[in-house]
Formats: sequence, structure tokens, C-alpha cells
Amino acid sequence: MSKASASGKIILFGEHAVVYGRPAIAVPVSHVRAQASVHATHDDEVTIDAPDIARAFALRDAPDDDPLATIIRLTCAQFQVAPRGFRVQVRSTIPVARGLGSGAAVSVAVARALADFFAREVSREEISALAYEVERLHHGTPSGIDNTVIAFEQPVYFVRGRTVSPTRTEQTGMETAKGENVRESRIESFHVARPFTMIIADTGVPALTKVAVGDVRRAWEQNRDEYETMFNHIGTLAHNARVMIEQGANEELGGLMTVNQTWLTLLGVSSPEIQTLVDAAMNAGARGAKLSGGGRGGNVIALVDEVTQDNVMRAMRSAGARDVMVTRVG
Ligand code: MEV
Repeated sequence: MSKASASGKIILFGEHAVVYGRPAIAVPVSHVRAQASVHATHDDEVTIDAPDIARAFALRDAPDDDPLATIIRLTCAQFQVAPRGFRVQVRSTIPVARGLGSGAAVSVAVARALADFFAREVSREEISALAYEVERLHHGTPSGIDNTVIAFEQPVYFVRGRTVSPTRTEQTGMETAKGENVRESRIESFHVARPFTMIIADTGVPALTKVAVGDVRRAWEQNRDEYETMFNHIGTLAHNARVMIEQGANEELGGLMTVNQTWLTLLGVSSPEIQTLVDAAMNAGARGAKLSGGGRGGNVIALVDEVTQDNVMRAMRSAGARDVMVTRVG
């Protein structure tokens, strides 16, 4: 039997703007994980068992756009092996549709477990590229930050590559229908000079990234200048945040998070439940708070220190947070 796992993630700065080529910062959340195991069987079938989402099915019956089937098919194609004679089991402690990267983590865990099963050496870049293809099924125009931070399992400063075609260069990161473009994203790991602590609090509202990303795209299409300006502001925040993290100026990060939350609200991806948790965290002494991921629901992150941590956790719980976790960055 082969086994592998992959972490969850949070985006500290820059979600949504990252889809349009601005920088963003994401970090792994290692204590929530997707786990995949692959067992040899004595028949020609491939079966998939994902009890946490109440799914059990045969690969041959799965539609082309099924994410679990897709990662298995793509990984086998990459290894040039026929998908047959094994059973894949997937378990996960990462809440689904909460901005914590559960989809990308499942893909990365399955690809890693299959690599082990077929005794293949695969790089983090290759695993990330496989998971990216599944992300495209989930939401059409992913920036690639989720699969990257999860496959690399380290803090990343990520800039989605411009898509370059022989005839034009787009700044939006949209790929052309011809599929002839080159995607060259910039992935930089960076040094966390002084570790810091984030509370991750679940609004309890599931929200599909695809919907929020689609709505932002429609709004951007109608009002490009305004949206490009907001993306620029968010990108500058992510850039400045990286400098502060590298300098250990953690106290400054909170203010940047709160400004980022304001821009996300103006983009239209916050929600009353998110704002309630942001306000609760700030009133209880957090240095900054914002949504993390696609928004509209999902998780709120709050920057705390040893003195404020318990207070902020309590306040977010009393304000309605379903689940509250603490993660240390760096
Ligand atoms: C989702 O975790 C982050 C978004 O920026 C979408 C993406 O980058 O693909 C909302």
C-alpha cells in the first residue's frame, strides 16, 4: 500500500487580485490534511472511496470533469501507465468549500500516493502542475496559488504568469481558447524572520471559489479601470507584507490585513458573516483580520499575539464561528 498526504492552506494577502497577475502570499496549514492511500487489487478496475464526502465509485463510470477521477487519469497518463488494478482511498480533515484549499490538497495527496505506488520520482512542480489541471475544472481561471502552496508546503509569494501568445500578451492571466499560451508563474519562497500566529475561524458558510471568482470577473469586465485599480492596491499590500514578514515587522502586518479586507469588501466578496467575525476579532484585540480565499463565506483569519490569542478565539466563537483553529506561520 502507498500513502501520502497534503496540507491545507490560507491566503494571507492578495486573493482575487492574484487571478489578474498581482502578487499574493499563501502559507500551508499543516495540521489539517488530505490523506490518500493506494492499494493493489486483483482485478482490472480502479475504484475510488472517499467516505468523508460519501462517495464510492469506479473510475470507468466517472464523468470527464470529476475531480478525483481526473487527478487519477492525469497522473497515470503522466507516468504512462494504464489506470487499472488499484483502489484509491481519500480522507480529509480539511473542511470543504471554506477557502482552505481542500480540493487542491486532495489532488496533491492522490498524485503523491500514485507516484509512490508506481515508484516514480516526481518534483513538486510536476505535482503542482497536475493539481492545477484539476483546479481548472473547479473554477475555470485559477491563479495556481492553491496548488502551488500545497505542493510546495511552504510560504509562497506567488505571481501568476502572464499568458503569452505569439500575437498578444494579456495582463489578465486569462488563457486564450486556442490554448497556445505559455504560463510562467513566479513562485518565490521567502524568509519569515519572526514567526507569527493566525487564528482561522470558520463562518460556517460554504462558498464555492468558482462563484466568487466568476462574479469578480463579470464586475471587472463591466468596469475594468476601477477593478484594475483595486487589484493594484491589493498587489501593493501583498508586496509590502512580504517585506515586513522578511524584516520581522509583524506588528505592521495587521494593518495591511485590515486594509486588504476593505478592498475585498469593495470587490464584492465579503459577506455579513465574514464581517461579523472580522469585527469580533478586532474588538477583542487582534492586530488585523480578513477573509481568506474566495470569500462570500469560508474562513476569516486574524493576526494575534500571545496576550490576545485566547480573547480573540473566544470572541470569534461567541460571534458565531463554527470552528476555530490556531496556526503558527514560520
Ligand atoms: C482561492 O484560494 C484564491 C482566489 O484568488 C482564486 C485563485 O487564486 O485561483 C480567490
